[in-house]
Amino acid sequence: MASYLFLGVAVSFTFIVTDVFANDTLLIPEDLLLGAATASYQIEGAWNEDGKGENIWDRWTHSNPNLINNGSNGDVACDSYHKYKEDVQLLNELGVNFYRFSISWSRIIPSGYTNVINEKGLNYYKNLINELLAKGIEPFVTLYHWSHPQFLEEMGGWTNEMMVEWISDYARIIFKELGPKVKYFATINEPHVFCGEGYGMGLKAPGKKLGSPGIFECMHNVLKAHATIYHIYNEEFREHQKGKIGIIIPCTGALPKNPNETEAVDMHFQFNCAWIAHPIFSKTGDYPTIMKIHVAENSKLDGFPRSLLPEFTPEWVQYIKGTSDFFGLNHYSSKLVEIVPRAEGQKWYAYSGVKESVDPSWPKSASPWLRVVPSGFREIIKKIAREYNNPPIYVTENGFSDKCCTSDYSRISYLHSYIKAMLLAIYEDGCNVKAYTVWSLLDNFEWESGYSVRFGLVYVNFTDSNRTRTPKWSMNWYKNIIATRILNSTLDSPTGMLEAPKKRGTSERRRERRIRTTTST
Ligand code: GAL
Repeated sequence: MASYLFLGVAVSFTFIVTDVFANDTLLIPEDLLLGAATASYQIEGAWNEDGKGENIWDRWTHSNPNLINNGSNGDVACDSYHKYKEDVQLLNELGVNFYRFSISWSRIIPSGYTNVINEKGLNYYKNLINELLAKGIEPFVTLYHWSHPQFLEEMGGWTNEMMVEWISDYARIIFKELGPKVKYFATINEPHVFCGEGYGMGLKAPGKKLGSPGIFECMHNVLKAHATIYHIYNEEFREHQKGKIGIIIPCTGALPKNPNETEAVDMHFQFNCAWIAHPIFSKTGDYPTIMKIHVAENSKLDGFPRSLLPEFTPEWVQYIKGTSDFFGLNHYSSKLVEIVPRAEGQKWYAYSGVKESVDPSWPKSASPWLRVVPSGFREIIKKIAREYNNPPIYVTENGFSDKCCTSDYSRISYLHSYIKAMLLAIYEDGCNVKAYTVWSLLDNFEWESGYSVRFGLVYVNFTDSNRTRTPKWSMNWYKNIIATRILNSTLDSPTGMLEAPKKRGTSERRRERRIRTTTST
């Protein structure tokens, strides 16, 4: 029976959701873990302290300040290298089940070669893990969140297949040193983003503009690297450490621009999510067939001697298939999609023949790519469940950006509507979601946007050398969700208490009204 509460009475499947302010109540399933996330380069700072080596984001931000908002960098960021105890205290107040953070590879292995291991770097993470465990918070460790040692980039980075060995050597050290106290590992965060924007378009570190050939090559090496790390864990560590390990895939939602355009929705999925997901989660393995066909045809039309999509040998197909204990899903927003002639395609999946756009009525965030579309979240969860035989899904990132303040009512509205969409996917569509993670615990260095947009549940004052942290309304709100395990619209007030929001400005009230009218599910 679906565990809904409606005005305090349990009912099954009769629940009608109206909007985020309806008097509705949804229970968070008992086995759904709730957490918050960050990443090393975005929060740690201490870029050259205690033996840390230079990584690609250090090099990129230092050599190209003109390409980062305000010329910012992660040299200090939230200073979490020094303030990690305060961060854990905040997590403790929130009451999260787990904290997802990433390891800075060059803090442990400064040059990228494991002949030199930096003990001080390892100690930082050991201390962080101990501090978390002392408060009953499970560490969820991401091995690679976009920052590898600069030296390895000089050797070609993700366009060099040797990266598979280099990252495996690093992973083995992390499993050996930190694994005994860690139950959740993610191998690689969002390959599409760093391959696309870092190697294809030159927007993120390492800033290479290699176009489609570079992106396809990078994704191919990432899949091999991920599978190799998974097998290392499986064969050498799993028996004693008994943890879970998976990859993290960014899946943008897709809604048909014109009624019945289901082909566009599926094609968008196959070229987006499934690029990484199909080789790992499908029954057959390998890239999606439709992707192989389209890329081969388009490569030919573009005059290439062979398809830009590299081929896996049958051995690699088998080796990659099944290498994930969970589906790590990062999801923020959705697009309208339609099939268009080849010349009108966009970005690196131009070869898909799908064009993305947005509905102008979707509420905006501070990030141009992030519109509020909770129905797209439910759809993408359903699609993953259908395509891959209902795997356990861990939502490893979901969040909203704004430009200001602790009175972040828009973030509360976003989180409410997205958590509700996820709960409906669980209760009404039978999807197997087992974890949910808010991005982010703290305002932090948002890549090329610098510090100009904020994703945190906690406000960080970046002009204060102490990087003072102040909980926002959303932290209070999320804390209530975790404590009560109930998503209740009457708790949506700024303070998380049973009262209506007070003293909001006109623009905030206008936005609230927009959100109200567009979040109906
Ligand atoms: C994700 C990324 C995070 C964070 C977030 C918000 O793609 O993994 O590091 O920046 O987006 O933009």
